Amino acid sequence: MTFEKIHDLVKGVPYICKNNARILYNMIIDQKLTNILELGIAHGTATCYMAAALEEIGGGQITSVDLLEMKDHFKPSVEEQLAKVNLSKYVNVVRMETGYTWFLHDEIKNNTRKDICEPKYDLCIIDGPKNWTIDGCAFFCADKLLKKNGFMIFDDYDWTYGSADKSRDVTDGITHRKLSNAERDNPQIKEVFELLVKQHPSYSHFTLHKLEGWAIAQKSESAKKTYSVIYSESYKDVVVQTKFQIKRWLGFLKGRS
Ligand SMILES: C[S@@+](CC[C@H](N)C(=O)[O-])C[C@H]1O[C@@H](n2cnc3c(N)ncnc32)[C@H](O)[C@@H]1O
Repeated sequence: MTFEKIHDLVKGVPYICKNNARILYNMIIDQKLTNILELGIAHGTATCYMAAALEEIGGGQITSVDLLEMKDHFKPSVEEQLAKVNLSKYVNVVRMETGYTWFLHDEIKNNTRKDICEPKYDLCIIDGPKNWTIDGCAFFCADKLLKKNGFMIFDDYDWTYGSADKSRDVTDGITHRKLSNAERDNPQIKEVFELLVKQHPSYSHFTLHKLEGWAIAQKSESAKKTYSVIYSESYKDVVVQTKFQIKRWLGFLKGRS
């Protein structure tokens, strides 16, 4: 299914924004990422974009994990959205009592032979509680299941518990006032990405989409590390902005001659 078509069908349902959806959709098609692990589903909007991309490349499977207690919380549900867009066959929805770290435990255990865990995923997207303990653990566990040259995406790079104080006291089971000031004020996904992912010997290519709060790492296992920060909203915006700058410069030079 084309990007425009799936966007038309799910637009307006939280949480993934159009820019991130486009990055994700294009990445799956360009890199042929057919076995995907999604940690944190909510309404399944990102799931629908990924399933649409899989249909474009002729198949694949997404395993999407969330909390059992949130099953009836999100309306529309992931199942309803997938049925609406007719892409249910690409997704296996898993709901766990205590969350995705125990799902990762089960996956590692089931894929371990003779003390070696066989990797199976091409892409893992971590978009859950934005918490150092849970998502730090999730990174190390998901890494064991991620194939060489696979990608790891983190959402909410800049999010803090402090920033959410005005709207609620508890986020995904964590009571804000029980945290230290440092835990409330530091973006915990940023800490995971900067201190765990970027220092991990297997990860070499890093991209931060600053405006969208997305951090991407590739498990390229290369000694040469690269880090790009993208400030513009999308590739299209970069082109538009560049054209705009060139026009301004031409106007400026004309004015001088
Ligand atoms: C921001 S939403 C995910 C949005 C979705 N990826 C999208 O862009 O459409 C975060 C989700 O993470 C789930 N979540 C939070 N903590 C979790 C945990 N420990 N294990 C599994 N899921 C969790 C929440 O229930 C919620 O559905």
